[in-house]
Amino acid sequence: MFNNLIDIERLLKEDITDIISTAQAFKKGTITSCAKGKTACLMFFENSTRTHCSFELAAKKLKMHVLNFDIGASSFSKGESVKDTFENLYFIGVDTVVLRHSENHIIDRILGEISYPLKFINAGDGNYSHPTQALLDYMTMLEKIGSVEGRKIVIAGDVAHSRVAKSNLALLKKFGADIHFCAPEYFMPEKPEKYDVTWHNNLQEAISGADVVMLLRVQNERLDSETIQRCGNYSEKYKLSSEILNKYAPNAVLMHPGPVNREVEITSELLDSSKGVTILEQARNGLYVRMAVLNMLFGEKEE
Ligand code: CP
Repeated sequence: MFNNLIDIERLLKEDITDIISTAQAFKKGTITSCAKGKTACLMFFENSTRTHCSFELAAKKLKMHVLNFDIGASSFSKGESVKDTFENLYFIGVDTVVLRHSENHIIDRILGEISYPLKFINAGDGNYSHPTQALLDYMTMLEKIGSVEGRKIVIAGDVAHSRVAKSNLALLKKFGADIHFCAPEYFMPEKPEKYDVTWHNNLQEAISGADVVMLLRVQNERLDSETIQRCGNYSEKYKLSSEILNKYAPNAVLMHPGPVNREVEITSELLDSSKGVTILEQARNGLYVRMAVLNMLFGEKEE
């Protein structure tokens, strides 16, 4: 099907539909592994709970061998180059690397340096792309609302630093969704007009009549000192509560990629309500999407 999963932009609509059907088949238990015996190396330069654990469990459920690469204990600390590291891993027997890194487009850079056909899956790079997150989000939306075509999908929060927002935009555009971004000026990316979305900076107005409301985490670790100062009162205007959601978008599906900052972008009472369960269902669908992606990397899809 594909040799690497780098971003959503390089997938065709049919590829996405195939990944989702394969994920659904894994969820129903109607498909078995064709990646058995292959080796996945999980390499996380940034912290992760959902993506790391679900990729590890997905690989184990597919009966793959799993190497959890310890960055701190590796020979990167001795100055080994990217080229040498990945070429040695390939010769040791690694078939695919699941990579999370702070550098945008790092997989393209590595592929440009190595001479052997190691397969890569992007588990999140900088503020560019998080393709498996967008795929699991899409799977969850399909389960909840059937189709995204023409449906109002609002993504609200720290858009500037969000690879999740960008990958969701790339995916949802392919399927004809009506996409709205909501952010204060300090969380808008440079040149917001280049994004093919409707922009808002008022949360109530943005979510009005929405079919899906996806909140984003304030990514404190990526903020410069000026933005940290400016976002001090973020939650006064952008924290979503049950009261606001029920008033402006009572039928909306509530989503969040996680991790959640309780009482910053969402109240604890909303997160712990029945609406918040979808956020846990997203995490569970992540397991099946990652099983599908790993399986399809080695040539199989659900017919
Ligand atoms: N949504 C997401 O990528 O979560 P983690 O950082 O915990 O993997």
